Amino acid sequence: MYFTLPKEYREATADDMRERIRAAKKRLGKKLLILTHHYQRVEVVEFGDHLGDSYGLSKIAAAQKEAEIIVFCGVHFMAESADILTGAHQMVYLPNPLAGCPMADMAEMADVLAAWEYLGEIVDTKKIMPISYMNTAAGLKAFTGRNGGLICTSSNADAALKWAFQQREKVFFFPDQHLGYNTGKKMGLSPEEMVIWDFSRESGGLTKEQIEKAKVILWKGHCHVHTNFTAEQVREVREKYPDVKVIVHPECPPEVVDLADASGSTAFIVKYCEEAPPGSTIAIGTEINLINRMALTYPDKTIFELSGQTCPVCANMYRTTLHDVAYTLEHYQDIKPIHVPEPTRSEALLALEKMLEII
Ligand code: 13P
Ligand code: SF4
Repeated sequence: MYFTLPKEYREATADDMRERIRAAKKRLGKKLLILTHHYQRVEVVEFGDHLGDSYGLSKIAAAQKEAEIIVFCGVHFMAESADILTGAHQMVYLPNPLAGCPMADMAEMADVLAAWEYLGEIVDTKKIMPISYMNTAAGLKAFTGRNGGLICTSSNADAALKWAFQQREKVFFFPDQHLGYNTGKKMGLSPEEMVIWDFSRESGGLTKEQIEKAKVILWKGHCHVHTNFTAEQVREVREKYPDVKVIVHPECPPEVVDLADASGSTAFIVKYCEEAPPGSTIAIGTEINLINRMALTYPDKTIFELSGQTCPVCANMYRTTLHDVAYTLEHYQDIKPIHVPEPTRSEALLALEKMLEII
């Protein structure tokens, strides 16, 4: 897909865009709701009505009945989820339509269906609970809903896994292997009980016996932003700053999460920074825009990025600019909203509502 803003917007100054966003917000009043994810640029966050992690924002979208125009400053799967959770009179717009999530793209519908079918040849799929991470396309959320499963985010993966094991013997978790593994480990599952389904290999690269013995079958997906963090970086930072607290997102590899002081969703990380006493030193393993905002917000604390060198930017989150937001607010009537058609919408809604219900 090719997308470019009209010249008038591309060449406008940031101050001009700010002024026009302010004017549009005033004009649209309660009809408009701007949601911003924690990884958005600081100048975009400034205009959000709500700032949050993917769970928090989906809850807000679900509870919001008044707004007819929802501008979701985040990535595609988040806007799709908001569309699923809101009413037919509410239109959801993604200010930069190119903002996707490479991890979500690692689970393709045809591959997931083929995996499910193969698993069904070995174990009755009625004994397997599908759990789809929020970072998936709507079609996969629908697959999950159809098969009795639920959606999870990084803030509720443990509750989702616990719920799943109360109903069924095994869990099929996709697409983030690290979130799934880290959560399973926290619950006391052993490495042998968690196997990785490699979608690039025949039969997922697993033997029949491995599948039979497994409690959790993890899709071999990952986030390229979070897998840049290493255990070595944690050791180095501890050596350099003996009082440091290392806080990471659970999309980081297990050896990083194991060595960290705490791990959790973006909202968890923000809360941790907020509640840490003045003078604290905090090294964070997540996206750089969140970290920079925390460092700016809490100048009385030393907050910095864990790797110290790789600049973990999520290029997709970074795509959304003030210019995109201004253009969306001024031209929403001409922009195609994010729309999940039936029956995908209703089936995906089952899985999303289950998450909101049990957690
Ligand atoms: P949160 O649910 O923690 O906001 O994370 C979303 C995400 O994409 C992390 O990379
Ligand atoms: Fe996707 Fe990773 Fe970006 Fe999150 S940080 S939106 S998982 S690519």
